[in-house]
Amino acid sequence: MTSRPEADQETTASAVSLTAEKTAAVTGNTRKVFVRTYGCQMNVYDSERMTDVLAPEGFQATENMEDADLVILNTCHIREKAAEKVYSELGRIRKVKEARAKSGREMMVGVAGCVAQAEGEEISRRAPIVDLVVGPQSYHQLPALLDKVRQGKKVVETEFDIDAKFDHLSARAQTPLKKRPPSAFLTVQEGCDKFCTFCVVPYTRGAEVSRSVAQIVSEAERMAASGVREVTLLGQNVNAYHGVSPDGATWGLGRLLRRLSEIDGLDRLRYTTSHPRDMDDDLIDAHRDLKTLMPYLHLPVQSGSDAILKAMNRRHTRDEYFRLIDRIRDAAPGIALSGDFIIGFPGETDRDFEDTMDLIRRVGYGSAFSFKYSPRPGTPGAAMDDQVPEDVKSTRLAALQDLVSEQQKAFNTSRLGMTCDVLLEKVGRNPGQLVGKSPWLQPVQLDAPENLIGGIQAVEIVGTGSNSLFGRLIDGQDETDFTGAIPAPAAQAG
Ligand code: 5AD
Ligand code: SF4
Repeated sequence: MTSRPEADQETTASAVSLTAEKTAAVTGNTRKVFVRTYGCQMNVYDSERMTDVLAPEGFQATENMEDADLVILNTCHIREKAAEKVYSELGRIRKVKEARAKSGREMMVGVAGCVAQAEGEEISRRAPIVDLVVGPQSYHQLPALLDKVRQGKKVVETEFDIDAKFDHLSARAQTPLKKRPPSAFLTVQEGCDKFCTFCVVPYTRGAEVSRSVAQIVSEAERMAASGVREVTLLGQNVNAYHGVSPDGATWGLGRLLRRLSEIDGLDRLRYTTSHPRDMDDDLIDAHRDLKTLMPYLHLPVQSGSDAILKAMNRRHTRDEYFRLIDRIRDAAPGIALSGDFIIGFPGETDRDFEDTMDLIRRVGYGSAFSFKYSPRPGTPGAAMDDQVPEDVKSTRLAALQDLVSEQQKAFNTSRLGMTCDVLLEKVGRNPGQLVGKSPWLQPVQLDAPENLIGGIQAVEIVGTGSNSLFGRLIDGQDETDFTGAIPAPAAQAG
């Protein structure tokens, strides 16, 4: 399946915080924290933030759970059986905790993220080894919550105190600079008011809240000063952003992007994930005007059938979506479009599914993520009649993914022979090889010396793989004046 990379990824946040090491060295009281991250990029960002908050407490990040005095699972609730998977992971952690206890070493266990928010006290009831359950809006309180744990209390903190969280985020911007990877995430907005009938986000992440422009600009400036060249603005519904500007006006995402594009050293801006209803003219114009705004847009549509869009409470029709795509492509010809599709939403007929396939053919995607519908307890979709049988979902999903793969291949092949800017991010699998990122978000593999990591280089695209491109460094040329303005590879929306 064309799976969404961030949706299934599992990473540790242990490598992210050099600040933690520094502080622990100063205090001489080193404890170790192991954070395992599931799910979306926002969780990756939150895990970094948790290690930052714990640094002044003397916690140093580790990649080895056995070494950890504190283990945190930063969980995701979007996938099926998410909670069950957390419980079985907690079963494994229990053994590690018991082994440590035998050698006289303590281990605190915390569950954070959306499963923590959704399950609350149920977690410590079902998994007594858990000392702390903390929802996404309460990470700034971690030190105080851990104090309570040390006093022998079981702690469950799942209140939505969003203002306090964002205040704390601005404080985070004052912590010492550390060297950062060339590409980083920056949360600008959290929560969602859309209430799509399949989705848990409005329940687990709460109402939509935007950070202030000043906080975001200050964090972005610090990122640029510590080596970040590409920032991806994050939000569950990022283009609903409506933050307060320094003069008290409310800015949308387009205005915010214009401001961020003025920051020296920040050469690339991206944002994810968007809702079609919130693509306003200013944001579309920003794609036309800003050289820093990369020619890639992840704009989930979920279905191509009006009846299903209505049942999903998506608040737009397929025609409105087509018209929107036309406006975006007028402003930014050649932009790579990406989306999410849900297959087998309750009531989806063969005809509805055909409408989705037709929409994909008409739009032409550079990539897309597709999922079989899975009922999430507490959402309206879960209570709907006409649930679609699993085998029907599987057949439809396979057909859709074949179509998307063809489009992705065509899109990648259309890059052959082009010269584009590539942000070189890390060493590749083979010696002498680096991996970078194209303007359209594809990974690019190429031979280049390690000292170029962190820079943007002009690269000729000489080959394509299923998900990545192969490039050749163009000697002596640092950056092109490439703007992404090339003709769209696939059929225009109509
Ligand atoms: N079933 C299947 N897919 C879902 N998504 C969200 N909720 C569900 C669900 N209940 C998908 C949507 C969303 C992406 C992040 O996950 O396509 O855009
Ligand atoms: Fe969920 Fe996105 Fe719909 Fe909000 S807009 S309810 S986050 S799918």
